[in-house]
Amino acid sequence: MKLTIIGTGYVGLVTGTCFAEVGHHVTCVDNDAGKVKLLREGGIPIYEPGLEELVKKNVAAGRLKFTESTAEGVRNSDVIFIAVPTPPQPDGSVDLSFIERVARDIASAMTEYKSPVFKSTVPVKTGEKVAETIKRYCKAVVEFDVVSNPEFLREGFAVGDLMKPDRVVIGVRSQRPVAAMREIYEPFKAPIIVTDINSAELIKHAANSFLALKISYINAIAVLCEAAHANVQEVAHGIGLDERIGRRFLNAGIGFGGSCFPKDLSAFIKIAEQIGYDFRLLKEVQRINGEQMERFVKKITDTLWVFEGQKIGVLGLAFKQNTDDVRMSPAIDLCHRLQKEGATLRVHDPKAMDKAKAVLSNVTYVDDMNDVGRDCDALVIATEWDEFKNLDLDRAKKALTHPIMFDGRNLFDGAEMEKRGWVYKSVGR
Ligand code: UDX
Repeated sequence: MKLTIIGTGYVGLVTGTCFAEVGHHVTCVDNDAGKVKLLREGGIPIYEPGLEELVKKNVAAGRLKFTESTAEGVRNSDVIFIAVPTPPQPDGSVDLSFIERVARDIASAMTEYKSPVFKSTVPVKTGEKVAETIKRYCKAVVEFDVVSNPEFLREGFAVGDLMKPDRVVIGVRSQRPVAAMREIYEPFKAPIIVTDINSAELIKHAANSFLALKISYINAIAVLCEAAHANVQEVAHGIGLDERIGRRFLNAGIGFGGSCFPKDLSAFIKIAEQIGYDFRLLKEVQRINGEQMERFVKKITDTLWVFEGQKIGVLGLAFKQNTDDVRMSPAIDLCHRLQKEGATLRVHDPKAMDKAKAVLSNVTYVDDMNDVGRDCDALVIATEWDEFKNLDLDRAKKALTHPIMFDGRNLFDGAEMEKRGWVYKSVGR
């Protein structure tokens, strides 16, 4: 099928590329001329494992192209996916101005039946508002159907999540666009759920909030484990084997971050408030997440005692492994807090150092993870990158003034670390 994606960020670019990979002909639209130029020349604006190869392959096969023109995108396809940002406003509610702008642009370019499909995470009832907007700004007399098709991809695993989705949610106001949506997703061989549009919009916020809740739950259990001399990983394993609970997203640490969970939680709390429900459960999830970071910083300051002037090596700057994304990164937050306490930092991340430079200054960026602890008083693990497990512990131990590690992601085995002569402190163990 011929498809158009408006917005070439994480969601739009990966979605467009995966649609092309299964054989659709995709036009990706972005109003950032620099980004379109970069993509046309074979460059990739983000780091996402496996994406670059797929983009190159599908551009070469003539199934994937990039343009700045929304009108061209609207002309090229009956189904127009919208993947523009929905950033938070200062009060936690969602800024829908990009969505509104795109709705107007689509409306003015429409000359025949179209289905604008929302991939961006939007508050419930946005679809209704968008339909009103399109109707208002469309000069031609044409029919259209707004569809909600939320995206569940995780950064760092986005290509895999898109190629093998757990489910595809299609929210509609009429049955007319359903056949085309099913045809688009048929090659992905995933369960397809067709709902009303408000339910589809709610599913996205409800899913992300539940995952955030799961993380805060295990972080609260981690606090209990520390007080009771228990091990949170054993507890997570013990409860996670119950299929109703599941082991995933039960890793205690320094809290969740990124461009989705914090934003979506605030938005969902705000949406609930506007509908007349005080979502206190989710407010508690936010509070636990904030406290988790404070506890970890306290663990470091309590151990190192007179903190001013201490030098600390930090491993990890991205908000999680497999990404260069530092938006709302707990690791960056941790660095800022340590700097505020008076520490000097040497930092390393396998992929996120360039992006971190824009938000983290007055630190030494170190290319080799094994060199980050040189002349430092302690080593801190802030992101759950798998490669940190391969750290040369003997070299790191010699490089430090004292072998102390604060492991905010529970990557190492406590007994093993102590046997090797480390003072090792982690989370909930
Ligand atoms: C999330 C959702 O998983 C995805 O379905 C949705 O479409 C977008 O939001 P993403 O933001 O890419 O994806 O990150 P995710 O892998 O969910 O991790 C979010 C944060 O939670 C990270 O900071 C991560 O370190 C933290 N996390 C995750 C934990 O602290 N413990 C865990 O067990 C899992």
